[in-house]
Amino acid sequence: MEKYKILFVCLGNICRSPAAHGVMQRLIEDEGLDSVIEVDSAGTYGGHQGQLPDHRMRRHAARRGYDLTHRSRPVVQNDFTHFDMIVAMDDGNARDLKWMARTDITHRLVMMGDYLTPGQKHSYVPDPYYGGP
Ligand code: 4NP
Repeated sequence: MEKYKILFVCLGNICRSPAAHGVMQRLIEDEGLDSVIEVDSAGTYGGHQGQLPDHRMRRHAARRGYDLTHRSRPVVQNDFTHFDMIVAMDDGNARDLKWMARTDITHRLVMMGDYLTPGQKHSYVPDPYYGGP
């Protein structure tokens, strides 16, 4: 059976999307779904390519039992056809993805904010890069 493929996307692929990727990977492993679901993450900006997640995100992830070892990579054209579901962290990511894609991705593109518990301060996942810890 073809795997169902999920890609988490943020701007730099060093904070939000590698965290989502690491948490989802754990959920998939815990449920024994490795052979059913594939997960990855990428950034719309490639300036951090090859880097581990930001030290702040790694520290906060480690505190919660997640060892984030993904290396940042930019979104590539193949991602728009390879992945069944592309999860954007904020409206800027969604706008950039639609702009980059040479195919119609509306049926694959979803917002991480749609999965947040209602009543949160934000309806999207804010860019944490310049926000301290
Ligand atoms: P991320 O955070 O999109 O959650 O990985 C950022 C990382 C780097 C930059 C911005 C946001 N940057 O401008 O380099």
